[in-house]
Amino acid sequence: MSGSQLWDDVDFYFSSHLAPDDEALQAALRDSEAAGLPHVNVTANQGKFLQLLAQIQDAHNILEIGTLGGYSTIWLGRALPADGRLISLEYSPRHAEVAVRNIARAGLEKVVEVRVGAALDSLPQLADENPAPFDLVFIDADKVNNANYVEWALKLTRAGSLIIIDNVVRGGRVVDAASYDDPDVRGNRAAIELIGAHPRLTGTAIQTVGSKGHDGFALARVLA
Ligand code: SAH
Ligand code: DHB
Ligand code: MG
Repeated sequence: MSGSQLWDDVDFYFSSHLAPDDEALQAALRDSEAAGLPHVNVTANQGKFLQLLAQIQDAHNILEIGTLGGYSTIWLGRALPADGRLISLEYSPRHAEVAVRNIARAGLEKVVEVRVGAALDSLPQLADENPAPFDLVFIDADKVNNANYVEWALKLTRAGSLIIIDNVVRGGRVVDAASYDDPDVRGNRAAIELIGAHPRLTGTAIQTVGSKGHDGFALARVLA
């Protein structure tokens, strides 16, 4: 859903000063476009927001669900120290292939690993490996499973970890009764209500406007 020219202009102004893209980020978008991937990556200023959150967390281990062409992955991966690790889960082999190239061009192939498959298959496999707790989890895949992803994030994190969910507003569909049958809307509402009710989570959600229209992020901190 596209927003107004004014929202575009403000995003452009902020991004040009605060989140300027470099050759690797530009190339990632160019190659994603050339490969026909959908234009649903985070914006530059949102990517920078994710990067800042990872830095505030002093993140060493990041989990991303939904890689697409690796654009958000690059922003997050750049927040990591040299011995850090980012695992990104992607259903589409074609998206993953584009992402792996983009991530390598950004020089992040040593810290980023893209795993292909449905995240609900990859997550139990990952848990079986007993990985170090993830300091930050970015959920940005099939919205229908968002509450399931929050449950998995809880198994894979520690007290103080941060869980972020993209696209929880979707032009206001989150509160549009006519959309409650939509599986994505149901998934988003289930995630919000889970965060609100869960004894181990405290969170909020923030609406955004910009070049991706009216949308928003949910943020939740793991308590114990
Ligand atoms: N985080 C990316 C955008 C992700 S778009 C960015 O901002 O740059 C959502 C991605 O989730 C798509 O690539 C889609 O193929 C993937 N996806 C959809 N269903 C999935 C599933 N069940 N498991 C893992 N990935 C999934
Ligand atoms: C869609 C997915 C996203 O992750 C996003 O940020 C925007 C839109 C989509 O599938 O429509
Ligand atoms: Mg998204």
